[in-house]
Amino acid sequence: MKNRTYINELPKRVGQSATLYGWSAKARAAGKIAFITLRDGTGLCQCVMEKNDRTAPFFDTAKKLSQESSITLSGTVHADERAIGGVELRDITACEIIGPSTDYPITPKPHGVEFLFKHRHLWFRSERQHTIIRIRATLIDAIRRFFNDRGFILFDTPIFAPAVGEGTSTLFQVDYFGDPVYLAQTGQLYLEAACMAHERVYCFGPTFRAEKSKTRRHLTEFWMVEPEVAFIHLDELLQLAEDFVLSVVHRVLNDHRQDLISLGRDLAPLDQIKPPFHRIRYQDAVDTLHSDKARHLLERDLDEKSARIAALDENLKQLESRRESATKAWEQEKAAQEIQAAREERAELEEQIANIPTHVKLAAEFEWGGDLGGSDETIISRLHDRPVFVTHYPREVKAFYMRLDRADNRLVENFDMLAPEGYGEVIGGSMREEDHDILLSRIHDHALPVEAFNWYLDLRRYGTVPHGGFGLGVERTLAWLCGLKHIRETIPFPRMMGKVYP
Ligand code: 4AD
Ligand code: MG
Repeated sequence: MKNRTYINELPKRVGQSATLYGWSAKARAAGKIAFITLRDGTGLCQCVMEKNDRTAPFFDTAKKLSQESSITLSGTVHADERAIGGVELRDITACEIIGPSTDYPITPKPHGVEFLFKHRHLWFRSERQHTIIRIRATLIDAIRRFFNDRGFILFDTPIFAPAVGEGTSTLFQVDYFGDPVYLAQTGQLYLEAACMAHERVYCFGPTFRAEKSKTRRHLTEFWMVEPEVAFIHLDELLQLAEDFVLSVVHRVLNDHRQDLISLGRDLAPLDQIKPPFHRIRYQDAVDTLHSDKARHLLERDLDEKSARIAALDENLKQLESRRESATKAWEQEKAAQEIQAAREERAELEEQIANIPTHVKLAAEFEWGGDLGGSDETIISRLHDRPVFVTHYPREVKAFYMRLDRADNRLVENFDMLAPEGYGEVIGGSMREEDHDILLSRIHDHALPVEAFNWYLDLRRYGTVPHGGFGLGVERTLAWLCGLKHIRETIPFPRMMGKVYP
């Protein structure tokens, strides 16, 4: 559009005329003045229209403008400290409706999560969703920059895969001209081939796992970045992961402080993230789960959550009576919104409290050899103020390609990085088994079809080298950085068991 000004450019144009394009987030009239809150891709701006000779032809339409009608408005930019963004558009000279909107489903009234996800295609227009998606874009840019700046070569791996990448239990099978193939669970195996040509490589793309449970950490389609490096050892790999995480955390904190605050994120735990991250072995994690520290943590949780429920009940009583005695519609609406929020929080707390005894039991009875579950990871990460690397897991619970620990071959040279504040695993990585015969026997152990891995074994036949890498999940990382309880808001159109619309 010629002569169009974006809302975020307005502060530079105070005193000048401007033409805005966007959608009406809110419109109301008070006598001879209409207030339209205009939203464009870059922000919100209040537009103030007075009824006069100039505006007479459109004033009556504008003052009743329905939510999400698309319009264009021309006027003069005024500085006003009280306004959103510090400016307003006044002295309106032109106004035109581009596309009307009737009965927009997402109103300022409270809506349930199910409803909002059914209207995901519209929900992006709300401020909070807009913010999360912008932070996601920065996170992805920070990820690419980190690897590009360090000489890593981007290598795109296929999505149709003829064999298992990570584990047989989460494969999505597709019909490939009559033959079964799978959606990629990881790009790693292909990336290992790239690594023997370019040494430092990464792939970044959508990844698929048929996760048959609905949890707050699992999607069936998520984005993963995976670097792979030749001639590296486990401690150097951890160092790379640490540098990488520090770099993306700092970038997001730097570019989005205000946005994170607007999401209600407490910045203190993020500001605290400094090197070195904690490095513990699986055995230490097991000991931690059995310790009094872990039990006390959960007991304290129980007390705190119960106290919070009592406070919410008290608050709910007051809100109910405020809603009943409210005389104005907006007062009732506000009370109703707060009641809904309090009830949601209460229901969540109830659920968490109900789970605590299970978590206590799982931790206390955790047996060496098992994989750390979600609640175990939560306990370990909450007992540390920075990210924690947990290394050297038992080989049985990890993928076939992980390098056996030559000092104790019950273990593999792997690591998971657990994010603080209970966010759990955001990175999984390992050294790769570079010995042909050991790898072959591991393929047999996992009952995998050797023919499918012949090319992969070639990498060990022709100049094998120690190498390793890791994968970071974008959505889990974003949930952690934004302080979101659930992963589902971190991806534009989440795919989970029972959720593929829209
Ligand atoms: O630990 P994972 O399964 O590791 C791999 O796929 C390796 N091939 C990576 C590598 O070494 N190149 O997954 C890595 C990360 C997890 O730590 C988590 O952040 C994310 O991918 N992830 C998921 N995110 C959302 N939903 C799921 N179902 C996820 N599964 C894994
Ligand atoms: Mg993992």
